[in-house]
Amino acid sequence: MSPFWSAWIIILTTIFLIGICWVLMANRKTQNRGPDATTGHEYDGIVEYDNPMPLWWIQGFVATIIFGVGYLIAYPGMGSWPGVLGWTAVNQWQAEVDEAAKRYGDVFAGYSATPIEELAQDPKAMRMAQRMFANNCALCHGADAAGGYGFPNLTDNDWLYGGSPEQIKTTITHGRTAAMPQWGNVVGDQGVREISAYVYSLNGREADAALAAEGGKKFQMFCASCHGKDGKGNYAFGAPNLTDQVWLYGGSMGQIQHTLQNGRSGRMPAHQELLSADKIHMLSAYVWSLSNQ
Ligand code: HEC
Ligand code: HEC
Repeated sequence: MSPFWSAWIIILTTIFLIGICWVLMANRKTQNRGPDATTGHEYDGIVEYDNPMPLWWIQGFVATIIFGVGYLIAYPGMGSWPGVLGWTAVNQWQAEVDEAAKRYGDVFAGYSATPIEELAQDPKAMRMAQRMFANNCALCHGADAAGGYGFPNLTDNDWLYGGSPEQIKTTITHGRTAAMPQWGNVVGDQGVREISAYVYSLNGREADAALAAEGGKKFQMFCASCHGKDGKGNYAFGAPNLTDQVWLYGGSMGQIQHTLQNGRSGRMPAHQELLSADKIHMLSAYVWSLSNQ
């Protein structure tokens, strides 16, 4: 805070405090008693007593002023005066973090040393992990981890990058970036229609046979390197299985064509900077447990 604003706040606060003391003192006693201890005003035959303010009220008021002055000495409030107690929001936050680390440190260390498959059987650990999931992952993957358009379902045992404990942990730690190239400018509109018909038919659905036959050839040429000859996908590229009726971006003819035309690049953010290794271990166990129980 600049010295000007600091002084501004101090002066205004002081004037205000002195002001309320003055108002209090000025109204402590009655001033203009008319005859019969009334104010002398009369409205429609109703008169008003001019009694002093009750003592308990004055005392309460004085107490709040004393409290206020004490507070401004103890805590930051008067401009850049830090307060004699040295309290800051950052200190308080740090103290709470330290306290939590002390309290949960051993618990986490114990969980961390437990293999993921075993940890997934521990209901207490999984309850904690579920809360971590709600705080860090649900935003994208949904509270029930069932995903949505562009965000994979983590409960269906169908994986882009593999569902072993190590693969899941690698995904969460380092993140993943998918690179599905756009094909519109490579194979042209007709090519997109042919290949889409082929991909459509891979899921046991009826598509134009002539288109699909042409598409099959092009698929081997352009797509098999990532999605595999049979279209079953490849964890190394995060290339989805195109034969299982599970779709990240939708499996209608139009949606497949759109994916081919424009490409896709889903990004799972790396969490190694955001979460401790202990927490990532617990989250891996949680995600693993969702499709292995
Ligand atoms: C900003 C959104 C976002 C957040 C936050 C996020 N994810 Fe993801 N996650 C994604 C996207 C998008 C993908 C798919 C990437 C792709 O298309 O290849 C993904 C992929 C994954 C996968 C791989 C799924 C598979 O089929 O292989 C796992 C596991 C995963 N996320 C777990 C988590 C966990 C656990 C958290 C919380 C710590 C989390 N994610 C937080 C967006 C997010
Ligand atoms: C360089 C590797 C690579 C090549 C080549 C490639 N893909 Fe992909 N494809 C991917 C990746 C990675 C994804 C996942 C994108 C994401 O998660 O955002 C994907 C996603 C898709 C999807 C979306 C699946 C879903 O679940 O919604 C379709 C459909 C698809 N590819 C079809 C094809 C076709 C057809 C070709 C050939 C013309 C092709 N891909 C070529 C890597 C590739």
